[in-house]
Amino acid sequence: MVLWALRFLQFDTDLFGIKTGVLDRCSTDDGLPLVDAVASAREQGLKLLYVSLEKADELEISFMVEHNINYVDDKVTFHRSVADATTSTQPTSGLIVERVDATSPQLEELAIASGHASRFFADSNISREAAKELFRRWMQNSIKGLAAKDVFAAKDDVGFVVGMITLRVVGEHGDIGLIAVDPSRRNGGIGQTLLQKSFEWARENSLTTMTVVTQRANEGACRFYKKNGFEEMGHVFVYHVWL
Ligand SMILES: CC(C)(COP(=O)(O)OP(=O)(O)OC[C@H]1O[C@@H](n2cnc3c(N)ncnc32)[C@H](O)[C@@H]1OP(=O)(O)O)[C@@H](O)C(=O)NCCC(=O)NCCS
Repeated sequence: MVLWALRFLQFDTDLFGIKTGVLDRCSTDDGLPLVDAVASAREQGLKLLYVSLEKADELEISFMVEHNINYVDDKVTFHRSVADATTSTQPTSGLIVERVDATSPQLEELAIASGHASRFFADSNISREAAKELFRRWMQNSIKGLAAKDVFAAKDDVGFVVGMITLRVVGEHGDIGLIAVDPSRRNGGIGQTLLQKSFEWARENSLTTMTVVTQRANEGACRFYKKNGFEEMGHVFVYHVWL
């Protein structure tokens, strides 16, 4: 049986104003079965719990169904080997992609756009303003180096920010945190140029693989990653348990 351990989440607690945590899979004897872990979280005053389940977690999925807890996200991870990625296509003309070290309203709007299909917007118990604020702070923390190593912006010929990507290092892997293109400039190759920048960055940082997490419901993004050579490496169903 899978055992679970509670981890308190300070960032989410501060943002939502309610005590929030996540249940992690636990291989030690300290873990509890899901039902007991949820009960213990309630006793400790938690109001919101995140739980990620795999298809094989049949007992846990039954628990969620019995308690009418719908999953809020089918979270898909894509990956692509850095060695295989080429940078043969021409970057979009008139576009400059450069590292940025200060946040701006445009970057924060793009961060919100990046999260438009996320579980925070999908969960009707979370206000839209709180979900937007989460992505604004994600961008601010990425710029500060807390949630990302580097942030790159795509700028047009008059210096207007039309796209961005945030990149962090996880062991030998590079991971895309946020990526979005201004709605008026989509489907013009800017997203592809940002991905190419991420592979250039990965080589500079001696990383072997790039990964990105998105939502199955974000069909445009899934198509975009597959078109750019990424393959699905796994997925989990994420539940928000309101206590
Ligand atoms: C995903 C995104 C960054 C791609 O940037 P882009 O500049 O539009 O992408 P490109 O022009 O390089 O590539 C376009 C390809 O992406 C796919 N695509 C991306 N978004 C799409 C959409 N909304 N509708 C249809 N296809 C889309 C298509 O396959 C398209 O290929 P095609 O020309 O063969 O139709 C951009 O669409 C975006 O900002 N989306 C909203 C934010 C988001 O969902 N970010 C992902 C977070 S995980």
